[in-house]
Amino acid sequence: AADMGQDLERVLLTEEQIGTRLDELAAQIDADYAGREVLLVGVLKGAVMVMADLARRLHLPVEMDWMAVSSYGAGTTSSGVVRILKDLDADLTGRHVLIVEDIIDSGLTLSWLLSNLRTRGPASVEVATMLRKPEAAKVDVDVRYVGFDIPTDFVVGYGLDYAEKYRNLPFVGTLAPHVYTD
Ligand code: PRP
Ligand code: MN
Ligand code: MG
Repeated sequence: AADMGQDLERVLLTEEQIGTRLDELAAQIDADYAGREVLLVGVLKGAVMVMADLARRLHLPVEMDWMAVSSYGAGTTSSGVVRILKDLDADLTGRHVLIVEDIIDSGLTLSWLLSNLRTRGPASVEVATMLRKPEAAKVDVDVRYVGFDIPTDFVVGYGLDYAEKYRNLPFVGTLAPHVYTD
């Protein structure tokens, strides 16, 4: 579809709602990490938008690094089998690591990532996610910063894709069924 407007069913979170929530999360993170340096670890590709918008709101000294993992294999649901496609550049020894995610769905990607990063000698590892689907959780993950808890509907935008599209939408919306049934 050339016109993305027709592919959306409804807007779940506006650009303004996202921005307001990010202001709050950034203030919390600034306070929690006062006097420390933070290594933000963005999980490609979905976390690109939240990483950019959150990092710009922080007043802490931060570094930004990126990891790419593949968790979905051929299927559309998370298998929990995770492969590193691009590892971090940074050495985590003694670092305060804050993983930045766009969404936690089953939690399997993050659960694997947490145990992996914790073996690298960091001073701390916490998680910030823009979205979380509590009803879709297959594993419990301890997440310090959550933007919004949302229903299990298929959502796109603000980094989230359907077949690699819609990531550039500045808001989060649900897809019209014709997009994935056509
Ligand atoms: C999505 C999303 C999270 C993960 C959440 O990434 O960005 O990283 O799935 O799912 P889970 O909680 O069920 O593990 P995806 O693997 O689609 O890659 P992408 O970020 O490149 O879209
Ligand atoms: Mn992702
Ligand atoms: Mg995806």
